[in-house]
Amino acid sequence: MKDAQKYGEWAVVTGASSGIGRQFAIQLAEQGMKVVLVARSADALTRTATQDIRTEAKVISADLATPEGRDLLLQEIAALDVGLFVHSAGNAYVGPYLDAPDDMDEGLIAIHVSATTQLTRAISQRLVARGGGGIILISSVFGMFPMPFSSVYGAAKAFMLNLGEALAVELRDQNIDVLSVAPGGTKTRMGDQLGEVIDLEKMAMPMGDPAVVAHESLAALGWRDTIVPARRNRLMTRMAHLLPRNMVKKQFGKMLESALIPQPKSET
Ligand SMILES: NC(=O)c1ccc[n+]([C@@H]2O[C@H](COP(=O)([O-])OP(=O)(O)OC[C@H]3O[C@@H](n4cnc5c(N)ncnc54)[C@H](OP(=O)(O)O)[C@@H]3O)[C@@H](O)[C@H]2O)c1
Repeated sequence: MKDAQKYGEWAVVTGASSGIGRQFAIQLAEQGMKVVLVARSADALTRTATQDIRTEAKVISADLATPEGRDLLLQEIAALDVGLFVHSAGNAYVGPYLDAPDDMDEGLIAIHVSATTQLTRAISQRLVARGGGGIILISSVFGMFPMPFSSVYGAAKAFMLNLGEALAVELRDQNIDVLSVAPGGTKTRMGDQLGEVIDLEKMAMPMGDPAVVAHESLAALGWRDTIVPARRNRLMTRMAHLLPRNMVKKQFGKMLESALIPQPKSET
């Protein structure tokens, strides 16, 4: 972090019960910040708070895909000096667009688009009032290009990436650092779930460490607007940006389609 003092007493971390969000919470606490841990599973959050966090921690069990869950989070943090917001809560769908479960779009869009927009705006207003702070949005390399066979997830992550990159410019004069993070495949619960629907060995991306994602992101906060954690993923995305977008989306489509593991048809 360029200027840790700027981010105040408390960091709010969504998705803190698992994976990348949990690593952010642990590493922010190691740097002395108090942490608000948010996800749906109260038990997993309490485990993280008691076993992994050495500073003060507050647990908020809320479903951020719902307006009620987002309102609850904002009410619960109203009295705290929050200077940093990390939005890592998320879920993914990889598979043919036409085979997606009926409720897939709603959940994916709610957590990545609606929650990102509402929480970022509400917390940004508070950061302006306190004179500055930081925001970290966890997007994905899948948000950097059109992603056939993960079209809705890719588009939702593109929304996060574009919102974050635009806000980095717009909020800079308000002393707010906005960092958009685009991890590649990462060994987390979500990574394990993806391994059940795609053959990860056929993907050109090795599965990375969530601790590295959090570490490289915190090191970049205040210095950069966007980061692709892990050198190999940076190289891959840089090369892809040099090629015609039309070619890149076809190649990603071919790669994902060939990696799909046939799923049993659900009985309706
Ligand atoms: N793993 C990867 O390969 C990868 C790659 C690129 C980007 N990402 C992104 O990284 C972020 C973190 O994912 P991860 O890999 O760390 O996965 P993870 O281990 O499954 O963690 C996801 C977190 O989000 C929380 N969450 C999910 N839905 C929620 C909801 N409706 N309300 C509140 N919390 C919710 C989960 O907790 P509960 O289930 O208890 O609510 C959990 O804490 C996601 O945005 C993901 O899209 C992951």
